[in-house]
Amino acid sequence: MEVHRRRAEREGAFPTHAFSTGLILTLLLGAWAAHALEMSTGKIPFLVAVNGSTVLLPCTYASCIGIKNLYFNWQFNANGTMEKLCESTIPYEGVEPHVSVFHERVEFVGNTPSNNISILLANITFEDDGEYTCFGRNPKEKFKNHSAIFTLSVVDELRVVDNTLTIIIASAVGGGIALLMGFMLLKNLTIFVLAKMEEKNKECLVTSSGIDNTENGLSGSKGDSKATPKKK
Ligand SMILES: *[C@@H]1O[C@H](CO)[C@@H](O)[C@H](O)[C@H]1NC(C)=O
Ligand SMILES: *[C@@H]1O[C@H](CO)[C@@H](O)[C@H](O)[C@H]1NC(C)=O
Ligand SMILES: *[C@@H]1O[C@H](CO)[C@@H](O)[C@H](O)[C@H]1NC(C)=O
Ligand SMILES: *[C@@H]1O[C@H](CO)[C@@H](O)[C@H](O)[C@H]1NC(C)=O
Ligand SMILES: *[C@@H]1O[C@H](CO)[C@@H](O)[C@H](O)[C@H]1NC(C)=O
Repeated sequence: MEVHRRRAEREGAFPTHAFSTGLILTLLLGAWAAHALEMSTGKIPFLVAVNGSTVLLPCTYASCIGIKNLYFNWQFNANGTMEKLCESTIPYEGVEPHVSVFHERVEFVGNTPSNNISILLANITFEDDGEYTCFGRNPKEKFKNHSAIFTLSVVDELRVVDNTLTIIIASAVGGGIALLMGFMLLKNLTIFVLAKMEEKNKECLVTSSGIDNTENGLSGSKGDSKATPKKK
């Protein structure tokens, strides 16, 4: 999906803000049009959750021509049969909708100021696994249909499989950093050793010259000759 979207973006065929799933569906419906209503289930329109948990099914709408009597609903695709979870009509922008909920574990948690029409699905079971469609229709647009899909995967525990890629990336990055640190340590160590060796050589030179200086009674030049090579 991500790959398809990336390619689509590159080719400039679709707007970058449209998401693959919603886009494909709307294209199938033949209802997509620029500057129209847009339903969005977020940048990551899927979620893997453990049975028994409560999940947020996110959805927002956007319309640059404004809304009037915007009808929306949430539907669950239960083996091909669309089961309506809730529905409502937003008369005007800024008006809180009165939402009719048809599912005992669904709660509407959206809010009008942010065009948010998300729902909460409580105590999920394995039967809740599947596709949820956030549907919208703005009468201002001659009743064109718009929708976005959110996919919920219910698992009995969050498996390692989901983290494989993360682990690979983490270990690659970690390995890279370790390598870099190792290299830098080695470099620093080499520099340190070289400096020590140089210092030792210098000190040897200084000491020997110092002895000469002392013997010659030129104590000041001893300090100078010692300080100057150390700076290099
Ligand atoms: C989730 O499903 C597993 C396997 O069926 C079960 O053992 C577990 O109790 C369930 N957890 C919850 C919170 O329902
Ligand atoms: C979907 O179909 C499967 C297998 O036919 C069945 O086990 C399951 O209960 C069905 N789910 C719903 C929500 O109807
Ligand atoms: C979810 O399950 C908990 C514990 O079983 C129960 O108290 C709560 O009422 C359930 N919530 C819904 C919305 O069914
Ligand atoms: C929509 O509202 C819900 C509940 O208040 C919140 O958790 C979610 O982040 C909101 N989504 C957006 C896109 O604002
Ligand atoms: C929009 O969806 C409704 C069902 O919700 C359907 O009856 C209607 O024909 C659809 N309209 C278009 C233009 O696809």
